[in-house]
Amino acid sequence: MQTLHTIPDFRRAHAALAGSLGLVPTMGYLHEGHLTLVRRAKEENDHVAVSIFVNPTQFGPAEDLAAYPRDLDRDLALLRKAGVDLVFNPSPAEMYPPGQESMIDTGSVSQPLEGQRRPGHFRGVATVVAKLFNIAQAQRAYFGAKDAQQVRVIQRMARDLDVPTAIIVVPTVREPDGLAMSSRNVYLTPPERIAARCLSRGLRLAEAGYAGGERSADALREVVRQTIAAEPLVTVDYISLADSETLAELEGPLTRAALLSLAVRIGKARLIDNVTLGE
Ligand code: PAF
Repeated sequence: MQTLHTIPDFRRAHAALAGSLGLVPTMGYLHEGHLTLVRRAKEENDHVAVSIFVNPTQFGPAEDLAAYPRDLDRDLALLRKAGVDLVFNPSPAEMYPPGQESMIDTGSVSQPLEGQRRPGHFRGVATVVAKLFNIAQAQRAYFGAKDAQQVRVIQRMARDLDVPTAIIVVPTVREPDGLAMSSRNVYLTPPERIAARCLSRGLRLAEAGYAGGERSADALREVVRQTIAAEPLVTVDYISLADSETLAELEGPLTRAALLSLAVRIGKARLIDNVTLGE
């Protein structure tokens, strides 16, 4: 496994490899969710590259950029064991040299939900992902379904800008008790970690309601709201039931696939999760 810190070094190392490349973009502090993306990329490509870059442009001024968990040595050991070929670990100055001004202006799918609560977040995500796509020139890139809106923003950006890399979406990986894996779970204290189970519990109850024939958007959102309201340590940021493609909020009876998603705060952590109803 080679670890490259500059764009020319990465390009040279990639050029020396024959065959297809799968790219797994990450911000590091890897967990089983990331390793699942790596395994999928290994199955479908001759070589796998993982980027580790905590992207400053996707954090708001009051967000957790400085505190974001980092452990490069541990990440590299996990990736070596997983059989990764290339790790791209640039500095912020390598990715955003002085004078860099161009940023990607994302469209309507980036406006609601996370986009509304985190102004500029998807502009930063789309910009860094487009740069990583251009640097890596991979045949395929792998993203987790937990970041449902991010996936849609990236798919739209790739389509609108004629990016040749195929976007592969991999199902959310969960802890045995249902909590979606996230690098930010490390912020949770033991009681908060127990309280956090209510996210997946609420989503599962809504899924069960949907499977049992419930189609009222309000009733499905309410199942999640009540489940989370029972946990005093958890504050709801939003609970949304939206068109799965456009992310426009749905009212009345559901007639097409819908994304049930939520964001909550628990102590220092802001966590998101989602399920799709009616796939
Ligand atoms: O999902 C993430 O970890 C990040 O948003 C990504 C896609 C690596 C861009 O910085």
